[in-house]
Amino acid sequence: MRYARGGKAETLRMDRLLTLAIDIGGSGIKAALLDDKGEIVGERVRVPTPPAPLGREELVAAIDHAAAPFAAFDRVSVGFPGFVRDGRIVTAPNLGTPLLAGFDLEGALGRHWGKPVRVANDADVQGLGAIRGEGVEMVLTLGTGAGTALFKDGTLLPHLELAHHPVSRNKTYDEYLGNAARAKKGNKAWNKRVARVIEILRSLVHFDHLYLGGGNAAHLSLSLPADVSIIPNLDGLLGAIGLWRDAAPSFPPPSLSSGGEREERGEDGPDGEAI
Ligand code: BGC
Repeated sequence: MRYARGGKAETLRMDRLLTLAIDIGGSGIKAALLDDKGEIVGERVRVPTPPAPLGREELVAAIDHAAAPFAAFDRVSVGFPGFVRDGRIVTAPNLGTPLLAGFDLEGALGRHWGKPVRVANDADVQGLGAIRGEGVEMVLTLGTGAGTALFKDGTLLPHLELAHHPVSRNKTYDEYLGNAARAKKGNKAWNKRVARVIEILRSLVHFDHLYLGGGNAAHLSLSLPADVSIIPNLDGLLGAIGLWRDAAPSFPPPSLSSGGEREERGEDGPDGEAI
């Protein structure tokens, strides 16, 4: 389904609160509309992420490009592949920290669209889409980098960022598990690394459940312990609704944003299948 301006968007809306979910990866930016129950409405879109390093305006333009097919939405959630604090980018290892550090992406997108926007770390958002809300649940995303998130009874314990910590000799989690390592070492050796990291994380946080997500979870072939499972990459979009759990039900008033009829599909990559 393509979204047209006006008529079709109005039909889709049916007075529902529509959240635009955006998941920024190192190779692709994915977007979908979610209804107030958090279910996907219509088609998903994927556009390629421009090559790093990205400037601030280039980042906003790339996100806007992914959002362009969606004619109507009330609020936006963005999963960002780096450390985010209060909607402001702190690090962006795979997109370019020097140009993006300190950028208030949440504020910039909010002004750009005239809508409420929330920006959070991509692994945190994927976790919100995956967890059951019971006990200590951990998420490890396997994509361009290695994202981590931790929850206790459904509440995010913010800013768990293992990606740049050492995990093996002189390698960080990103270097040990990221897509470059998988491409260099091959899937078999990479799977062994994932198995080792599962046990390291178990001893680190004593999770009740560990979810493995990200586009490269598709390359996992190891047999998993009962308390570890693979989650669909789609959870990176579905988690978007979780960022608004504290928002008032009537919020915000319906309005239409403008959008085009473009739709582009990118190559498969560590951030997931082309959709
Ligand atoms: C970043 C994390 C991010 C992960 C997955 C890492 O390089 O530091 O913040 O969650 O990549 O995108």
